[in-house]
Amino acid sequence: MTTTDTAIDPRGEIFIDPAAYADQERWHAIAAELRDEAPVLRYEAPDISPFWAVTRHADVFRVSRDNEHFLNTRNSVLGNDSAMEFISSLGIEPKTLIHMDGHEHAVHRGLANPYFRPPAVAARQAAIDSIADEFVTKFRELDGRCDFAQDIAVPYTLRVIMSIFGVPVEDEPTMLRLTQGIFGAADPEYLGDLADPVALLVDTIQEFDDYFERLSVERRARPQDDLATVIATGQVDGCPMDRNATLWYYTIVATAGHDTTSYALAGGMEALVRRPDQLALLQGSPDLLFNAVDEMIRWTSPVRAFLRYLTEPAELSGVEIPAGERVLLSYPSANRDERVFDEPMTFAADRPHANRMVAFGGGEHFCLGSTFARRELRTILPKLLAAIDTIHLDGEPEWAQANFVGGVKHLPVDATFR
Ligand code: HEM
Repeated sequence: MTTTDTAIDPRGEIFIDPAAYADQERWHAIAAELRDEAPVLRYEAPDISPFWAVTRHADVFRVSRDNEHFLNTRNSVLGNDSAMEFISSLGIEPKTLIHMDGHEHAVHRGLANPYFRPPAVAARQAAIDSIADEFVTKFRELDGRCDFAQDIAVPYTLRVIMSIFGVPVEDEPTMLRLTQGIFGAADPEYLGDLADPVALLVDTIQEFDDYFERLSVERRARPQDDLATVIATGQVDGCPMDRNATLWYYTIVATAGHDTTSYALAGGMEALVRRPDQLALLQGSPDLLFNAVDEMIRWTSPVRAFLRYLTEPAELSGVEIPAGERVLLSYPSANRDERVFDEPMTFAADRPHANRMVAFGGGEHFCLGSTFARRELRTILPKLLAAIDTIHLDGEPEWAQANFVGGVKHLPVDATFR
């Protein structure tokens, strides 16, 4: 195939249509076809500039690690062109770590990095343990009948990230609503009274801006030992961050920190509920915990995609891509690539090398919070496994309609305890 092939393959729609992700079986069946037949697929749609969807593990891995030839830009997150123009015209265009490159990225990432290094995360083990205990107790108090996603996974992961952030417990519902406004804007459940996802997004960004501006003023006046203070007082190249950079720094840490991890936990639990043999395997083999957590993250791949821009022509899986074009890295597809994982459509807690998954990306932008995410799952999972005697679905699970961050948003379960 060459770049002159211009016919648009309708299967590329799975990368942009939020609803396509809600039907995981269909989504993965199409992605598997693409990995075989068109592993680097050029796609475009009305109001979405062309991109090349990269679906094989080897290509996603290679592009992620080559930060010289594949750059991030202000359009690193897939969205409608008109929405981006509109948001930019309001002066609130995204400027997170994900939207930066090179020196600018390194100095901004360096600000929060110490909070996310393994020793700093390990130092929080006692706090994470106590939050996990609280939610296992809550599960028991609900008599095991609950929406595991909304009642346990979401508030647990939110509480953990907010505890390092320094946001008080009473503000957690606000943070949750704001995150859903950013990540779930396309999902009808999160639209509320608004008919238009862009309106929800703009409202949400403005609300985040107000909230975080107040937090910044507070922390500059009375610094504390928390991440909010680091961001509020952070200097890059000797200058304070401007309001937009500060807003977006808060936003990425606040949002990326819990929705992703809660989808991994809820989706991992869904896999165990659907596969009692896997539940029993894990309950009988605690040494599988680390591998099982990575398998849950591979299985759920909560971040659907990021974009990279080519500085010069490149060839991926035999396809020539011109300089200036953009590639979409499909993490869920790469994580089901049969070239790397045997029987990738099967959840297997004892899968050899589950840690080859690429759900956290790679290279300079490798997920800043991966150590936290893994530790959160590794902490609550054994407590849940020790508590649960039996667990069944108590209704049909429902998946979020989201093409950026998503997963199972309602997981009705009925459990009995030991
Ligand atoms: C299972 C949970 C999570 C998954 C699957 C996930 C996935 C990702 C992915 C795919 C990227 C982009 C990597 C790339 O472009 O190569 C990323 C970046 C990032 N993640 Fe996570 N993430 C998770 C949890 C977290 C947590 C708990 C935090 C904590 C705050 C976090 C904060 C960030 C930040 C700040 C970035 C931007 C890093 C940069 O551009 O330098 N993530 N994550």
